[in-house]
Amino acid sequence: MHDSPIVTKILRVDAAKLDAGILANAADAIRSGKLVAFPTETVYGLGANALDGRAVERIFVAKSRPAANPLIVHVADAEAAQSLAAEWSDDAARLAAAFWPGPLSIVVPKRPIVPSNVTAGGATVAIRVPAHPVAIALLKAARVPIAAPSANRSNHVSPTRAEHVLDDLAGQVDLVIDGGPCSGGLESTVIDLSTATPCVLRQGLVTAEQLEEVLGRPIGRGAPAADVLRSPGMLERHYAPAVPLTVVEPSEVAQEIERAAGSSEKTKDAPMGWLSLGPPCVSTDRNVLVVEMPIDATAYAQRLYAALRELEHAAVTSIVVTRPPTTTEWSAIHDRLRRAASL
Ligand code: TXA
Ligand code: MG
Repeated sequence: MHDSPIVTKILRVDAAKLDAGILANAADAIRSGKLVAFPTETVYGLGANALDGRAVERIFVAKSRPAANPLIVHVADAEAAQSLAAEWSDDAARLAAAFWPGPLSIVVPKRPIVPSNVTAGGATVAIRVPAHPVAIALLKAARVPIAAPSANRSNHVSPTRAEHVLDDLAGQVDLVIDGGPCSGGLESTVIDLSTATPCVLRQGLVTAEQLEEVLGRPIGRGAPAADVLRSPGMLERHYAPAVPLTVVEPSEVAQEIERAAGSSEKTKDAPMGWLSLGPPCVSTDRNVLVVEMPIDATAYAQRLYAALRELEHAAVTSIVVTRPPTTTEWSAIHDRLRRAASL
């Protein structure tokens, strides 16, 4: 553990033309207990050797993450996943075959080889095979599983670009592999297979409906209230920008801008932010920074966290978001907007 800030090294890689030397260096860093931030198809991860409890401890320190929030372990393939799992059910095998590599984390009973701080002291471990060439190459070169939460300060918006990682964690992480923007933009879906009925603990780019189709039966959505601490990602107020955010119907945007502007009279010159869905539908005299969001769910997810960070950087006093459509492909986006809005 480092008491004083460390110098963060940044290495740029071209995902289409991987540099074996850079990946070998990063793999060495992982094996020697260092922290390496790397791109995945969802968001950037803050990685450490998942089998080294001291390296894992550094993740919690760097992020100021509560020890009660367990980490996702990344592996190169389903076989490596089984070496960490005490049980690998037919359900696990089916989900892995259908969605890996990809944005699905599967919670299963853990083997003793997984250090207890990875799982926050619990008996289960979340595992996933990421679908990003840099992440897979790093896992293969490191030859150890990599524990990696999103590479942001605890509770802040997840990073979808290397710059976001630096904004939050420069001086806390040894190495950042810059592989460009993440294509997915939202964190993986987390499904718990350790209970009688499989249950989605965190929504993500794989929808509950897709999971039910592969499992062939209905699954739970959200852990029972008493169980919420098993997956703190379910807690409200998470993935949040540093300013108040309100989601409103398209017809209410103008009114909300007036209301928010009125309540920030003291900071008259500071702008407010608006995530408009497609081209802005109202005009206003107020100082509003408009981010025109895509009307396609996949593109919206990809853009969302970067847009929130851009507005934060512009020091907006508040953010208004036009409510997107409510069809299933928008579910995870609604989930994140709801959490970002729960002040
Ligand atoms: O897309 C992602 O999942 C990214 C990339 C880097 O892979 N990672 C990520 O990790 O979002 P993190 O730590 O920000 O979120 C992990 C979520 C948390 O909600 C945590 O509570 C839950 O997974 N989780 C981890 N292990 C768990 C377990 N054993 N049981 C229940 N929930 C678990
Ligand atoms: Mg996170």
